Amino acid sequence: MPTMAPDPSLLLLLLLFLSPTNSAAAVSPSPSPPSATTPTPSSPVSSSTLDPKQLRALQSLNIPTSKDPCSSHSRPSTTTCDSSTPFRHLISLTLSNCSDDVALSLTALKSLSTLTSLNFINCPISPIRFPSDLASNLHSFTCINSLKKLTGVWLSRLQNVTELTVSRVSITASGPTIILSGMKFLHSVTLSQTNLSGYLPKHWHPNLTFVDLSGNHLKGKIPLSLTRLENLAHLNLSSNSLNETIPTTIGDLASLQNLSLASNSLSGPIPDSLAALPGLVHLDLGSNQLNGTIPNFIRDMKKLKYLNLASNNFHGVLPFNATFIKGLEVFKVGENSNLCYNRSTLGSKVKLGIAPCDRHGLPMSPPPAKDSSFDDSSDSSDDEDYSNVEEKKHHSGPSKVVLGVAIGLSSIVFLIVFLVLLSKCCK
Ligand SMILES: *[C@@H]1O[C@H](CO)[C@@H](O)[C@H](O)[C@H]1NC(C)=O
Ligand SMILES: *[C@@H]1O[C@H](CO)[C@@H](O)[C@H](O)[C@H]1NC(C)=O
Ligand SMILES: *[C@@H]1O[C@H](CO)[C@@H](O)[C@H](O)[C@H]1NC(C)=O
Ligand SMILES: *[C@@H]1O[C@H](CO)[C@@H](O)[C@H](O)[C@H]1NC(C)=O
Ligand SMILES: *[C@@H]1O[C@H](CO)[C@@H](O)[C@H](O)[C@H]1NC(C)=O
Ligand SMILES: *[C@@H]1O[C@H](CO)[C@@H](O)[C@H](O)[C@H]1NC(C)=O
Ligand SMILES: *[C@@H]1O[C@H](CO)[C@@H](O)[C@H](O)[C@H]1NC(C)=O
Ligand SMILES: *[C@@H]1O[C@H](CO)[C@@H](O)[C@H](O)[C@H]1NC(C)=O
Ligand SMILES: *[C@@H]1O[C@H](CO)[C@@H](O)[C@H](O)[C@H]1NC(C)=O
Ligand SMILES: *[C@@H]1O[C@H](CO)[C@@H](O)[C@H](O)[C@H]1NC(C)=O
Repeated sequence: MPTMAPDPSLLLLLLLFLSPTNSAAAVSPSPSPPSATTPTPSSPVSSSTLDPKQLRALQSLNIPTSKDPCSSHSRPSTTTCDSSTPFRHLISLTLSNCSDDVALSLTALKSLSTLTSLNFINCPISPIRFPSDLASNLHSFTCINSLKKLTGVWLSRLQNVTELTVSRVSITASGPTIILSGMKFLHSVTLSQTNLSGYLPKHWHPNLTFVDLSGNHLKGKIPLSLTRLENLAHLNLSSNSLNETIPTTIGDLASLQNLSLASNSLSGPIPDSLAALPGLVHLDLGSNQLNGTIPNFIRDMKKLKYLNLASNNFHGVLPFNATFIKGLEVFKVGENSNLCYNRSTLGSKVKLGIAPCDRHGLPMSPPPAKDSSFDDSSDSSDDEDYSNVEEKKHHSGPSKVVLGVAIGLSSIVFLIVFLVLLSKCCK
């Protein structure tokens, strides 16, 4: 107990002792100007500035920069530099919200080939062929709503990338294969909302952890080879035209946390092997033509937070209880016309977008739904508030608060009146 508060002078001493080392260590990204300008003879890094050739290159691209892009936070472009001497070199450049007069030039990009990370965000400028030094140095390339239009051949030259993100840019290519097949170090790939057509690749890099090919025009079936990626944590193939069944080997994706196959034309059942993925957090199979019953094992997925099975052809009794549903952040099962829920486990007032079951586990003719007055009051203990379910908020939450306040206020008024009366009568 007495040792809870340390000696303040000791603390001060500790602070004094620590602070100089801290400011020397935080060289470039420190937001406080003093640390960049204070003479720190022990670190030559902070006195060294960007290679003048690279500075000129940035200026020739009309990228607004400050005098020393290595030591400041210039607004529209963000840069990181290495610590070489006498001049530092750019290793990462992010251009966002570019103005119209930014234009890429081969000469400038040649000077910038030390970059390992290059990112365009909301920069609708014209793309040019990257010099080969730059193309081979890049480990990370991001292009979101930028560079107008890209081709598969253009992207395929970035052979050493480990991270590739292209989103909201149209890509002309026969399919993802031509883009990805040569990228031997790829760990994470996003090609989303690019209008990419064709089929999913047959060969995948074994070290992939993140694959997002959502929002394209990809067709055909999900290849078995995709289910052999044992490090894959995130797979998003939603909003494409994929068909046939979900591979029965989907449960081989032992590291999977997010799975979205929503808005495709997938048919058949939810594979049993999915039971082997207890680490699943996000499962979105909505808007397909999946059928069969909803498997019981889903309710044992302890990490699950998001579950969308809506707009399919599932049938039978929903295998979930109220505790399970309330534990989820998002739960959607609506628009499955042959699916129903058990009123003795979920109560009669739930609004899941499906009908309650009859005695045989078949949907009863749907109640006059979307009406908060629906209440056949057969059992009264089931006023469940599924706050994560769509079509909520019809319930008595707010009115209970109002009622409480009203009761509180009126009792205070009553008390005052009572006291006044009391004081009058007892005079
Ligand atoms: C780019 O513009 C958007 C809005 O147009 C803004 O929200 C965003 O912060 C801007 N980004 C940068 C890095 O300036
Ligand atoms: C990838 O990087 C290595 C060195 O790290 C280099 O030798 C090779 O040429 C690069 N590959 C491509 C396709 O640029
Ligand atoms: C994809 O194509 C649609 C129409 O076919 C178009 O409206 C949309 O802008 C395209 N998306 C991109 C990123 O080019
Ligand atoms: C995959 O990653 C591991 C470790 O990160 C590495 O040893 C292995 O060489 C990589 N495999 C390939 C094919 O790049
Ligand atoms: C999958 O992609 C869609 C469309 O790009 C997006 O709306 C959704 O949030 C993504 N899912 C996950 C789990 O990231
Ligand atoms: C799936 O799509 C492919 C390509 O669009 C088509 O050739 C095939 O017939 C479709 N399969 C089924 C079962 O509809
Ligand atoms: C799962 O998806 C969410 C939302 O898109 C994302 O924030 C999270 O990083 C993803 N998890 C993994 C392991 O990629
Ligand atoms: C599911 O749909 C397929 C056709 O897509 C059909 O062959 C199969 O019998 C259906 N299964 C069930 C249980 O309805
Ligand atoms: C509800 O279902 C979960 C499994 O999802 C189970 O662990 C729990 O015991 C059930 N609760 C009740 C009250 O039946
Ligand atoms: C609904 O649940 C009750 C109690 O758990 C059970 O006795 C009954 O058989 C279930 N009804 C259907 C249709 O599954």
